[in-house]
Amino acid sequence: MEWNTRVTALLGSKYPIIEGAYGGFGTSDLAVAVSEAGGFGIITAGALRTPERLRDDIRRARSMTDKPFGVNLSLMIMSYPDEMREVAIEEGVPVVETAGPRPDEHGRRLKEAGVKWIHKVGAVRHALAAERQGADAVMIVGLDGVGFKGPLQLPGLVAIPWAAKQIKIPIIASGGIGDARGFLAALAMGAEGVSLGTAFMATKECPISDRYKQALVDGDPTAPRFRDRALATPKPEAFAELMKERDSMPQEEWLRRFAAVTSGGATDEVDELAEELGEETLAFGMASLAVASVDRVVTVKELIDSIIQGAEEILSAEPFASLWRSSPPR
Ligand SMILES: Cc1cc2nc3c(=O)[nH]c(=O)nc-3n(C[C@H](O)[C@H](O)[C@H](O)COP(=O)(O)O)c2cc1C
Repeated sequence: MEWNTRVTALLGSKYPIIEGAYGGFGTSDLAVAVSEAGGFGIITAGALRTPERLRDDIRRARSMTDKPFGVNLSLMIMSYPDEMREVAIEEGVPVVETAGPRPDEHGRRLKEAGVKWIHKVGAVRHALAAERQGADAVMIVGLDGVGFKGPLQLPGLVAIPWAAKQIKIPIIASGGIGDARGFLAALAMGAEGVSLGTAFMATKECPISDRYKQALVDGDPTAPRFRDRALATPKPEAFAELMKERDSMPQEEWLRRFAAVTSGGATDEVDELAEELGEETLAFGMASLAVASVDRVVTVKELIDSIIQGAEEILSAEPFASLWRSSPPR
């Protein structure tokens, strides 16, 4: 079966499956494996720390695969966003994903340079704004996913269909997805691609420790370290106050406050776990409710193949197949 959507056309990938961005370890190691397996790998600029190292890593990736991959710019938490963006442009990266507030200038510059622009958001309202600003696609992370939570964020089951009713550009669903069922459900809800963060971390190619991967396999989504962090949304007043303070203190200090306000009481739990595992990379969240779909550590190719094969099996199983054929999703 062909899995062609507007997202595969935009990315040039075989499957509409995109790698999440990871501030601590999102380098070419995992991105190349994802692109080689038919998905779309993402190098996280923030994980490389400097523009020079980003350039080297893009070149390294290019030496290992002829498949396309993209770069993530996490505008709120990374250093040198302008310089990093220019490196991605100069190195001919075809797609850049931005995340965080005020992406419009970056989007404009990317588009002017002929680079496709995806913007990642937590709220449907912000997806609509990105569409108005000219984004080629929007990635919507539901409450079930990892990431800073905003007061307007909803669970994916509600956010994606609601967005699909209003947004014309392609939608990529993210948050809590890690297997064939989640993948297919996202497409049925109106998304044309998915992005997996947690699920790709439990792969052999992901450059994190085996203990961390085992913690994902053993992870129970009802444990406070996953559940509270995922579902706690900040109070609108506290969030507004926080955003006002953004430029009035050192970034590290502000990010600590940000993590506390946007994750309810769960920050301490995650920090404790980070200490226990000796993982700096956990600083802003270890994993999401998607641990529910993580049963073992596999290769990236095994994970992507299992999602695609599983989805094809579901679609061809009776009576689902006849149902699907008689009323194709709109
Ligand atoms: C350890 C970790 C670090 C992350 N760092 C970033 C980041 O720096 N920038 C970003 O845009 N998203 C970051 N994310 C979010 C993922 O890119 C993705 O949006 C999210 O994991 C999707 O939810 P899922 O984990 O349920 O699949 C991170 C996620 C994890 C688990």
